[in-house]
Amino acid sequence: MDLNARNIAVATIKQEHRSLARVLQTLQALLNRVESSYGSPEFGLLSAALYYIDDFQERCHHPKEDEYLFKALRAATVEFNGELDAFEAGHMSSVHAVSQLHRYLVHYQGGSATGLDLLKAGVDTYAAQMMEHMRQEEALLELCADVIGESEWARIAAAFDENDDPLFGSNRREEFGRLYHRLALLAPRKLKAALHPDKGQ
Ligand SMILES: [Fe+2]
Ligand SMILES: [Fe+2]
Repeated sequence: MDLNARNIAVATIKQEHRSLARVLQTLQALLNRVESSYGSPEFGLLSAALYYIDDFQERCHHPKEDEYLFKALRAATVEFNGELDAFEAGHMSSVHAVSQLHRYLVHYQGGSATGLDLLKAGVDTYAAQMMEHMRQEEALLELCADVIGESEWARIAAAFDENDDPLFGSNRREEFGRLYHRLALLAPRKLKAALHPDKGQ
């Protein structure tokens, strides 16, 4: 067993989960601030955060899980097919949920009286679902570590290595660079520490 390839693959997947969690937490914090009348709506930031979720998670992270991790696990055993079916269904419903959040944001920005409530409820529901989805995936990663063979872990690691998170990765894309700095500026203290671990609290 090539523990290095496996460890690299698992670490990359978990890092992508942490990136999504950070953006979800920030979305919730921003909407809570507005609901509590502590600030004006940050439409540009809300839009950029949803764009990141759509661009990176829906078009990159989830498809790579489907195409490489889940396929390799299905080829190795039928033991986890039930869980994998549920994860793949979760990926499909996530695409629709993000589209719905975009629509709620447009309604909110357009002045709809229920816009904030719908967006906030939608984000809270989506965030809870995704946090549970990622928790269950990481639990499965522990269980399947020795089930998937060395060469398959290497393929999975290589596939995820190509992802290069456009917000938190080493080659931050220009449009997400602005989002990164806005996240750092507006994030709660705990999140700031996660974004800038070298600077402490
Ligand atoms: Fe997933
Ligand atoms: Fe995932």
